[in-house]
Order: sequence, then structure tokens, then C-alpha cells
Amino acid sequence: MNRRKLLKSIGISIGGTLISTKVLARLADDSFEYAIPPNPLHQPIGKSITAITLGAGNRGTVYGNFAAEFPNELKIVGVAEPIKFRNDKYAKTHKIPDANRFITWEHVFERPKFADAIIISTPDRLHYGPCMKALEMGYDVLLEKPISPSEKECRDILELSKKKGRIVAVCHVLRYAPYFVKMKELIAKGAVGEIMSVQHFEPIEHTHMAHSYVRGNWHNSKESTPIILAKSCHDLDIIKWVINKSSKQIVAMGDLKWFRKENAPAGSTARCTDGCKVERECPYSAIKQYYEKRERTAVLDLPEDKSKHAEVIMERLKTTNYGRCVYRMENDQPDHYITSIRFADNVTASFSMEAFTSYHDRRTRIMGAMGDMVGDMTELVITDFRTGKQTKLVPKAEDVEGYKNSGHGGGDWLLARDFVQAVAHQDSKMLTSTIDESIESHIMGFMAEESRKKNSVMNIKMKA
Ligand SMILES: NC(=O)c1ccc[n+]([C@@H]2O[C@H](COP(=O)([O-])OP(=O)(O)OC[C@H]3O[C@@H](n4cnc5c(N)ncnc54)[C@H](O)[C@@H]3O)[C@@H](O)[C@H]2O)c1
Repeated sequence: MNRRKLLKSIGISIGGTLISTKVLARLADDSFEYAIPPNPLHQPIGKSITAITLGAGNRGTVYGNFAAEFPNELKIVGVAEPIKFRNDKYAKTHKIPDANRFITWEHVFERPKFADAIIISTPDRLHYGPCMKALEMGYDVLLEKPISPSEKECRDILELSKKKGRIVAVCHVLRYAPYFVKMKELIAKGAVGEIMSVQHFEPIEHTHMAHSYVRGNWHNSKESTPIILAKSCHDLDIIKWVINKSSKQIVAMGDLKWFRKENAPAGSTARCTDGCKVERECPYSAIKQYYEKRERTAVLDLPEDKSKHAEVIMERLKTTNYGRCVYRMENDQPDHYITSIRFADNVTASFSMEAFTSYHDRRTRIMGAMGDMVGDMTELVITDFRTGKQTKLVPKAEDVEGYKNSGHGGGDWLLARDFVQAVAHQDSKMLTSTIDESIESHIMGFMAEESRKKNSVMNIKMKA
């Protein structure tokens, strides 16, 4: 049976507030599986909006998959991607004619405007150029985070989007995940009374750290973005979003402690495949991760024919960064990072990003005067101090068909859907992560990094 048919609205009393929610199932007396209702602002669209994807890697594919699944909402009509394998694959999936296939983003803008929107999923340092050009030419933009690694460039994009009256949706996808949507709604409705402080924890998971921030695209902060933005701009953004007050001060500490040359074990070699003596006992072995477990192999551009995977993976481990020893990279991203933030009205927050965990999924504790919340993205437990009553909410992104394909707690595709609506109706109110809304958490990230480097508390100024 289609679970959507089971949806019914019931009122749950939390913290003296009646919360109406779409409950899918009562799991126990005070435990409910719930879905957030479809965005009430959504209206039917006459025809699908069209978009050109710049960067057909991991994220370009996420939004491309949304288009493939919902062709009546989004159609990809062009692609710019220098890696032939990815360009070919993307063009085939979306039936993009050769005339609309480009090697680099600049080529797209040599043509007169030929779509409603541009999806910018290029590497971090290639967001500003295409975004400014797209806005000048009258495109709306779906812009991957971070907006840009430079505060000035972030502000330039904001300014130009206002001047041109165009929509820029920043891919702060957690704002669309039902778990965080409900957390924000409950706080706003007073479920825990006046909010005092927040503790937020981002466990990266040690193998994910090694993959992305030691060996992978973001291993060098100067060539990509400092990790507080590259990984944790989502977290600073969510903290700010749920507290819903402006940030005033921030202080940060942390460094690269483990993934350094001096920690390379005796017997280790430049690559895991070079006869490393400790490879079998190393938790970061590339052979274990990519070859044996076949984890995170999307970056290796494997052919469709699975019978060739073993051979191609081994070749990639011998020739790309993904096979290199984690202790011998040119990496500089901190592997543990803590920040404390003071918001208006003396609400405080602490945030901790940790590489060395066996698990992932953000953990959050909200402390209010009348109650608290504890959650780990799979459930949110709300306790009312006045009654002692506990309510457990278990999120499901049932309002998006094909949720299985949508990452970030369902947020990826829910953002894509709101973006389609915003462009179709030329109404940025459909989005919760417009550039205006998103910029403050980026400024918090820039200030945190400055604080970490200068060893001092930074005042956050929103106006230039
Ligand atoms: N919202 C999120 O949760 C989230 C998650 C991961 C990554 N990101 C961000 O999304 C962006 C893309 O990350 P990714 O993981 O997809 O990386 P990726 O490396 O998989 O994809 C980027 C693609 O851009 C292509 N590219 C490079 N130069 C180009 C050019 N001149 N013109 C066109 N394309 C070019 C690359 O070849 C690559 O295929 C980054 O800014 C990243 O920080 C966001």
C-alpha cells in the first residue's frame, strides 16, 4: 500500500503547544513517525523549467537525478564538464544534444541565454565566475555551497543577485531535511520555551575524512575551501537557522593533528599499493575502502561494465590521490575543530566537527527554559520540563517520491523541488536558503577561520 495514503494530521501536545503534524504511524505511546507536508506555497507549473549543469560530478549528478526522476519539473538541457567520461554519461542520461555540451563553464556563456537556470556544481573556487556571469545574463541559479571561499565574492554575488532581481538558491540542503524543518518549527512554536543554547556536533566519520579531506577534493584548503566552510557551513547555517537570531561573536580552535607525515607508521609507503607493511592493519587503507569494500567509488569514474571494476579501481589506486598514504598527502585541513558562538540576546552555541568517529549524522541538543530536545537526525526527543513528558519524533521524507535517492535526510531533492517552484513562479519565497538567508552563516565561517588562525575572539559584522 502507498504509505502516502496512510497520512493523517493529528495534534501532538509538546511543551504546552499543540503541534499539528502529518503522522505516518504511532510507534509507541509517545513516539511518532512523521512527514512534513508538501510546501503549501507550491503551485502547479505549466511546463518543466530548464537548466544547464556546470560540473557533472557528484552534486551535478544529484540534481541531474532529480530531473531524470521528475521530468515534468526539471529538464537538463546543457552541460559543461571537462572530464569526458562524466560529460558523456551526463549527456546520455539527459539526452543533451552535442551543441549544448561544453568543456568548461565559460563556453556556456558565449551563447545567448538558452535555459531558465544554471546549476553550479563546479569545485568551490569555480562558483564565483559562473555565478556572476549567469546573473549578468539573466539566469536564475542553483548554487552549491560554499557560495565562494572569499567573503568579498559572497557579498558580490548577493549584491548582483539583488541588482538583477534573480533567484540564487544556496544548496544548504539540511534546511530542507524534514528532521531539521521539524526542529525549527517546534522551537519557533515554543515547544522548549525560550531558547538558551545549542550544542551541535558533526561526526565526519574517520573514513569519510580520509576520503574527502585528506586524499580527496578538499584536502588542501588553499585550493578548495577551509573545512569549516567546505564541510561545516551546513552546520553553522543550521545552528543560526534554528536559533533565528543574528550572530555576534565567534571563537574557534582546532588543527591538523593526525594526518601528518610525522605520524606515518614505520613500514608505510607512498601508496597503499606500494607494498606497505602496515596496510592490513591500517584503518585508512585505500585497498580496504575502495577495492575490497567498494565504498565511495563514485569519484573513480568506473565504467558501466562491472566486470572491469576490480582492474580499474586498482589502476586508480596506483595513479590518483585516492591510493596515496593518508600520512603523506599535501593536506592541511584540521581534523578536529571547535567553535563557540554568541548570538543576539546572549543565546550561545557550541559546535564541534570531529574526524575521528566510527559514525556520521549530526547530533544536536537544544536547551530551552521550558524543555529540551536531543536528536541525531534519525529521531528527535523533546522533553517538557513542566510535565516531564517526552515525545519522540522519527522523520520520514515521505513527501518526496523516490526518497531513497535523495541524500542529506531527504534535503537534496526537497531543495531541488522548491528551486523549481521558485524559478517557475519567479518567487524566491518558495526557498528557505536564498543567498540573503544563507550569507550570514558563511560570514560566521570566515570569522571562525580567522579566529582559529589569530587565536582571538571575532566580532561578526554583517554589513561591509
Ligand atoms: N550541498 C552539499 O551538501 C554538498 C556536498 C558535497 C559537495 N558540495 C559542493 O558541490 C560542489 C561540487 O562538489 P562535488 O562533490 O560534486 O565535486 P566533483 O569533483 O564530484 O564535481 C565537480 C565537477 O566539476 C567539474 N569541473 C571542474 N572544472 C570545471 C569547469 N571549468 N567547468 C565545468 N566543470 C568543471 C569537475 O571535473 C567535476 O566533475 C563543490 O563546491 C562542493 O563543495 C556540496
